[in-house]
Amino acid sequence: MAWMSLSLDVKKAAAEAAQELLTDCGAAGLELRDGEGGMPNVRKPNPGEAIVIGFFEKRAAAAAALKKAKSVLRPSHAELEEVVEKDWSEEWKRLIRPVTVGRLWVGPPWEKPPKGKVCLFIEPKMAFGTGDHPTTSLCLAAVDDFLGGHPGASVLDVGTGTGVLAFAAKKLGAGRVVGTDNDPIAVELAKECAEENAIEGIALSGKPLEAIKGPFDLVLANILANTLIALAPQLAKKVKQRLVLAGVLVPQADEVTAAFVAEGMKPVGRAVDGEWIRLDFERP
Ligand SMILES: C[S@@+](CC[C@H](N)C(=O)[O-])C[C@H]1O[C@@H](n2cnc3c(N)ncnc32)[C@H](O)[C@@H]1O
Repeated sequence: MAWMSLSLDVKKAAAEAAQELLTDCGAAGLELRDGEGGMPNVRKPNPGEAIVIGFFEKRAAAAAALKKAKSVLRPSHAELEEVVEKDWSEEWKRLIRPVTVGRLWVGPPWEKPPKGKVCLFIEPKMAFGTGDHPTTSLCLAAVDDFLGGHPGASVLDVGTGTGVLAFAAKKLGAGRVVGTDNDPIAVELAKECAEENAIEGIALSGKPLEAIKGPFDLVLANILANTLIALAPQLAKKVKQRLVLAGVLVPQADEVTAAFVAEGMKPVGRAVDGEWIRLDFERP
Protein backbone atom coordinates (compact mmCIF):
# COMPACT_ATOMS: atom_id res chain seq x y z
CA MET A 1 0.00 0.00 0.00
CA ALA A 2 1.40 3.42 -0.93
CA TRP A 3 1.29 6.21 1.63
CA MET A 4 0.32 9.75 0.67
CA SER A 5 2.10 12.86 1.86
CA LEU A 6 0.50 16.29 2.01
CA SER A 7 2.97 19.20 2.23
CA LEU A 8 1.74 22.64 3.24
CA ASP A 9 3.88 25.79 3.10
CA VAL A 10 2.40 28.10 5.70
CA LYS A 11 3.44 31.16 7.73
CA LYS A 12 5.52 30.05 10.75
CA ALA A 13 2.76 31.29 13.07
CA ALA A 14 0.30 28.91 11.38
CA ALA A 15 2.53 25.82 11.65
CA GLU A 16 0.85 24.56 14.81
CA ALA A 17 -2.63 25.04 13.36
CA ALA A 18 -1.51 23.15 10.23
CA GLN A 19 -0.28 20.23 12.34
CA GLU A 20 -3.58 20.15 14.22
CA LEU A 21 -5.58 20.24 10.99
CA LEU A 22 -3.57 17.39 9.48
CA THR A 23 -3.96 15.27 12.64
CA ASP A 24 -7.70 15.99 12.80
CA CYS A 25 -7.99 14.90 9.16
CA GLY A 26 -6.38 11.55 9.97
CA ALA A 27 -2.64 12.01 9.36
CA ALA A 28 -0.77 9.11 10.94
CA GLY A 29 2.52 11.01 11.06
CA LEU A 30 3.79 14.59 10.79
CA GLU A 31 7.00 16.30 9.75
CA LEU A 32 7.77 19.94 10.51
CA ARG A 33 10.52 21.84 8.69
CA ASP A 34 10.82 25.27 10.24
CA GLY A 35 14.45 25.83 11.06
CA GLU A 36 17.96 26.30 9.89
CA GLY A 37 20.13 23.70 8.24
CA GLY A 38 18.22 20.51 7.58
CA MET A 39 19.03 17.46 5.51
CA PRO A 40 20.72 17.93 2.15
CA ASN A 41 18.48 17.52 -0.92
CA VAL A 42 15.34 18.25 1.09
CA ARG A 43 13.17 21.24 0.16
CA LYS A 44 13.50 24.04 2.71
CA PRO A 45 10.82 26.52 3.79
CA ASN A 46 10.79 30.08 2.41
CA PRO A 47 11.84 32.78 4.89
CA GLY A 48 9.12 33.32 7.51
CA GLU A 49 7.39 30.08 6.54
CA ALA A 50 7.36 26.47 7.68
CA ILE A 51 6.66 23.32 5.71
CA VAL A 52 4.28 20.98 7.51
CA ILE A 53 3.89 17.50 6.07
CA GLY A 54 1.23 14.98 7.00
CA PHE A 55 1.46 11.31 6.08
CA PHE A 56 -1.81 9.52 5.31
CA GLU A 57 -2.63 5.87 4.78
CA LYS A 58 -5.67 6.70 2.64
CA ARG A 59 -5.61 8.87 -0.48
CA ALA A 60 -9.19 10.08 0.15
CA ALA A 61 -8.31 11.36 3.63
CA ALA A 62 -5.26 13.17 2.27
CA ALA A 63 -7.33 14.75 -0.52
CA ALA A 64 -9.95 15.89 2.00
CA ALA A 65 -7.20 17.36 4.19
CA LEU A 66 -5.81 19.26 1.18
CA LYS A 67 -9.22 20.77 0.45
CA LYS A 68 -9.73 21.82 4.07
CA ALA A 69 -6.17 23.17 4.42
CA LYS A 70 -6.57 25.30 1.29
CA SER A 71 -9.71 26.96 2.62
CA VAL A 72 -8.65 27.32 6.29
CA LEU A 73 -4.88 27.93 6.17
CA ARG A 74 -4.40 29.43 2.70
CA PRO A 75 -0.94 27.85 2.22
CA SER A 76 1.46 29.53 -0.24
CA HIS A 77 2.09 26.05 -1.66
CA ALA A 78 0.30 22.72 -1.15
CA GLU A 79 1.27 19.40 -2.64
CA LEU A 80 -0.20 15.92 -2.46
CA GLU A 81 2.22 13.15 -3.39
CA GLU A 82 2.49 9.40 -3.26
CA VAL A 83 5.36 8.41 -0.96
CA VAL A 84 7.75 6.30 -2.98
CA GLU A 85 9.16 3.44 -0.91
CA LYS A 86 12.92 3.64 -0.87
CA ASP A 87 15.69 1.49 0.48
CA TRP A 88 16.95 4.14 2.87
CA SER A 89 20.29 2.47 3.54
CA GLU A 90 21.06 2.62 -0.19
CA GLU A 91 19.55 6.09 -0.55
CA TRP A 92 21.75 7.34 2.30
CA LYS A 93 24.83 5.87 0.67
CA ARG A 94 23.98 7.61 -2.59
CA LEU A 95 23.96 10.96 -0.76
CA ILE A 96 27.39 10.55 0.81
CA ARG A 97 30.10 11.90 -1.44
CA PRO A 98 33.82 11.63 -0.76
CA VAL A 99 35.61 14.96 -0.39
CA THR A 100 39.15 16.04 -1.06
CA VAL A 101 40.32 18.99 1.02
CA GLY A 102 43.98 19.99 0.81
CA ARG A 103 46.05 16.92 1.71
CA LEU A 104 42.97 15.05 2.96
CA TRP A 105 40.54 12.66 1.37
CA VAL A 106 37.48 11.71 3.46
CA GLY A 107 34.98 9.21 2.16
CA PRO A 108 32.82 6.19 2.94
CA PRO A 109 34.50 2.77 3.09
CA TRP A 110 32.99 1.62 -0.23
CA GLU A 111 34.76 4.38 -2.20
CA LYS A 112 38.28 3.98 -3.56
CA PRO A 113 40.50 6.88 -2.49
CA PRO A 114 42.93 8.53 -4.89
CA LYS A 115 46.65 7.90 -4.49
CA GLY A 116 48.82 10.29 -2.51
CA LYS A 117 46.16 11.62 -0.12
CA VAL A 118 45.85 11.28 3.66
CA CYS A 119 42.71 9.12 3.81
CA LEU A 120 39.94 8.82 6.37
CA PHE A 121 37.09 6.36 5.99
CA ILE A 122 33.89 7.40 7.72
CA GLU A 123 30.87 5.12 7.62
CA PRO A 124 27.66 7.15 7.77
CA LYS A 125 25.93 5.99 10.93
CA MET A 126 24.10 7.92 13.64
CA ALA A 127 26.56 10.79 14.08
CA PHE A 128 27.28 13.93 12.07
CA GLY A 129 30.56 14.23 10.21
CA THR A 130 31.13 12.30 7.00
CA GLY A 131 33.18 15.12 5.52
CA ASP A 132 30.78 16.10 2.77
CA HIS A 133 28.79 18.72 4.70
CA PRO A 134 30.07 22.26 4.00
CA THR A 135 30.63 22.95 7.72
CA THR A 136 32.85 19.89 8.03
CA SER A 137 34.83 20.50 4.85
CA LEU A 138 35.38 24.15 5.84
CA CYS A 139 36.89 22.88 9.12
CA LEU A 140 38.94 20.18 7.36
CA ALA A 141 40.54 22.95 5.28
CA ALA A 142 41.41 24.86 8.48
CA VAL A 143 42.90 21.73 10.07
CA ASP A 144 45.02 21.05 6.98
CA ASP A 145 46.17 24.65 6.87
CA PHE A 146 47.04 24.99 10.56
CA LEU A 147 48.84 21.66 10.90
CA GLY A 148 50.82 22.39 7.74
CA GLY A 149 52.56 25.16 9.68
CA HIS A 150 52.37 23.69 13.21
CA PRO A 151 53.43 20.03 13.26
CA GLY A 152 52.88 18.43 16.65
CA ALA A 153 50.24 21.02 17.66
CA SER A 154 47.73 20.09 20.34
CA VAL A 155 44.11 20.01 19.13
CA LEU A 156 40.74 20.09 20.87
CA ASP A 157 37.66 19.18 18.79
CA VAL A 158 34.44 20.21 20.56
CA GLY A 159 31.32 18.51 19.16
CA THR A 160 33.43 15.84 17.54
CA GLY A 161 30.51 13.81 16.06
CA THR A 162 32.10 10.95 14.12
CA GLY A 163 35.52 12.30 15.17
CA VAL A 164 36.36 13.32 11.61
CA LEU A 165 38.16 16.59 12.47
CA ALA A 166 40.09 15.04 15.37
CA PHE A 167 41.18 12.14 13.13
CA ALA A 168 42.19 14.52 10.34
CA ALA A 169 44.31 16.50 12.83
CA LYS A 170 46.02 13.35 14.14
CA LYS A 171 46.71 12.02 10.65
CA LEU A 172 48.19 15.38 9.64
CA GLY A 173 50.69 15.25 12.48
CA ALA A 174 48.99 16.75 15.55
CA GLY A 175 50.36 15.88 19.00
CA ARG A 176 47.78 15.67 21.80
CA VAL A 177 44.28 15.37 20.32
CA VAL A 178 41.09 15.47 22.39
CA GLY A 179 37.57 15.09 21.00
CA THR A 180 34.44 15.67 23.04
CA ASP A 181 30.71 15.45 22.32
CA ASN A 182 27.68 15.75 24.59
CA ASP A 183 25.93 12.98 22.60
CA PRO A 184 27.02 9.61 24.05
CA ILE A 185 26.11 7.80 20.80
CA ALA A 186 28.46 10.09 18.86
CA VAL A 187 31.28 9.33 21.33
CA GLU A 188 30.80 5.56 20.93
CA LEU A 189 30.68 5.84 17.15
CA ALA A 190 33.74 8.09 17.10
CA LYS A 191 35.63 5.44 19.08
CA GLU A 192 34.55 2.74 16.60
CA CYS A 193 35.54 5.00 13.74
CA ALA A 194 38.99 5.63 15.26
CA GLU A 195 39.50 1.87 15.43
CA GLU A 196 38.35 1.35 11.85
CA ASN A 197 40.90 3.95 10.74
CA ALA A 198 43.60 2.48 13.01
CA ILE A 199 44.01 5.85 14.71
CA GLU A 200 45.45 5.71 18.19
CA GLY A 201 46.19 8.24 20.88
CA ILE A 202 43.04 10.36 20.67
CA ALA A 203 41.05 11.00 23.86
CA LEU A 204 37.37 10.78 22.89
CA SER A 205 34.77 11.38 25.59
CA GLY A 206 31.62 13.17 26.64
CA LYS A 207 33.49 15.32 29.17
CA PRO A 208 32.30 18.90 29.56
CA LEU A 209 34.85 21.57 28.63
CA GLU A 210 35.58 22.48 32.26
CA ALA A 211 36.79 18.91 32.85
CA ILE A 212 39.33 19.00 29.99
CA LYS A 213 42.82 20.23 30.78
CA GLY A 214 43.97 22.90 28.32
CA PRO A 215 44.82 25.12 26.63
CA PHE A 216 45.29 23.76 23.07
CA ASP A 217 47.16 25.21 20.10
CA LEU A 218 44.09 24.65 17.91
CA VAL A 219 40.47 24.49 19.10
CA LEU A 220 37.77 23.40 16.65
CA ALA A 221 34.03 23.69 17.26
CA ASN A 222 31.60 22.87 14.48
CA ILE A 223 28.33 23.13 16.39
CA LEU A 224 25.53 25.67 15.90
CA ALA A 225 25.59 29.45 16.39
CA ASN A 226 23.47 29.54 19.56
CA THR A 227 25.52 26.76 21.21
CA LEU A 228 28.79 28.46 20.23
CA ILE A 229 27.60 31.73 21.77
CA ALA A 230 26.56 29.94 24.96
CA LEU A 231 29.92 28.13 25.14
CA ALA A 232 32.03 31.21 24.24
CA PRO A 233 33.55 31.79 27.72
CA GLN A 234 34.54 28.13 28.22
CA LEU A 235 35.71 27.66 24.61
CA ALA A 236 37.88 30.80 24.57
CA LYS A 237 39.63 29.65 27.78
CA LYS A 238 40.84 26.51 25.97
CA VAL A 239 42.59 28.40 23.15
CA LYS A 240 46.35 28.88 23.19
CA GLN A 241 46.64 30.05 19.57
CA ARG A 242 43.90 29.40 16.97
CA LEU A 243 40.14 28.94 17.30
CA VAL A 244 38.02 27.73 14.39
CA LEU A 245 34.24 27.92 14.58
CA ALA A 246 31.70 26.49 12.14
CA GLY A 247 28.05 25.49 12.04
CA VAL A 248 27.28 29.18 11.63
CA LEU A 249 25.00 30.56 8.91
CA VAL A 250 26.29 33.67 7.09
CA PRO A 251 23.75 36.06 8.70
CA GLN A 252 24.74 34.81 12.18
CA ALA A 253 28.47 35.54 11.71
CA ASP A 254 28.61 38.96 13.36
CA GLU A 255 26.69 37.87 16.45
CA VAL A 256 28.97 34.85 16.96
CA THR A 257 32.08 36.97 16.31
CA ALA A 258 30.98 39.54 18.91
CA ALA A 259 30.54 36.81 21.55
CA PHE A 260 34.15 35.65 21.05
CA VAL A 261 35.64 39.15 20.77
CA ALA A 262 34.03 39.79 24.17
CA GLU A 263 36.10 36.83 25.43
CA GLY A 264 39.33 38.41 24.18
CA MET A 265 39.65 36.54 20.85
CA LYS A 266 40.82 38.36 17.70
CA PRO A 267 39.01 37.59 14.40
CA VAL A 268 41.60 36.71 11.74
CA GLY A 269 39.63 35.21 8.87
CA ARG A 270 36.42 33.85 7.43
CA ALA A 271 35.59 31.25 4.78
CA VAL A 272 32.19 30.77 3.17
CA ASP A 273 30.63 27.74 1.49
CA GLY A 274 27.05 28.41 0.33
CA GLU A 275 24.98 29.47 3.33
CA TRP A 276 27.64 28.39 5.86
CA ILE A 277 30.56 30.40 7.23
CA ARG A 278 33.70 29.45 9.14
CA LEU A 279 35.09 31.97 11.62
CA ASP A 280 38.81 31.94 12.55
CA PHE A 281 40.23 33.65 15.64
CA GLU A 282 43.65 34.01 17.27
CA ARG A 283 44.58 34.46 20.89
CA PRO A 284 46.28 37.91 20.76
C1 LIG B 1 27.61 19.61 13.29
S1 LIG B 1 28.15 18.28 14.26
C2 LIG B 1 29.90 18.34 13.93
C3 LIG B 1 30.56 16.99 13.84
C4 LIG B 1 32.00 17.02 13.36
N1 LIG B 1 32.84 17.75 14.30
C5 LIG B 1 32.11 17.65 12.00
O1 LIG B 1 32.75 18.71 11.89
O2 LIG B 1 31.59 17.10 11.04
C6 LIG B 1 27.98 18.98 15.87
C7 LIG B 1 28.23 18.03 17.04
O3 LIG B 1 28.25 18.79 18.22
C8 LIG B 1 27.65 18.05 19.26
N2 LIG B 1 27.23 19.03 20.29
C9 LIG B 1 26.14 19.83 20.30
N3 LIG B 1 26.13 20.61 21.40
C10 LIG B 1 27.25 20.30 22.10
C11 LIG B 1 27.81 20.75 23.34
N4 LIG B 1 27.21 21.69 24.08
N5 LIG B 1 28.96 20.19 23.77
C12 LIG B 1 29.58 19.24 23.03
N6 LIG B 1 29.10 18.78 21.86
C13 LIG B 1 27.96 19.29 21.40
C14 LIG B 1 26.55 17.28 18.57
O4 LIG B 1 26.21 16.13 19.31
C15 LIG B 1 27.20 16.95 17.22
O5 LIG B 1 27.82 15.68 17.24
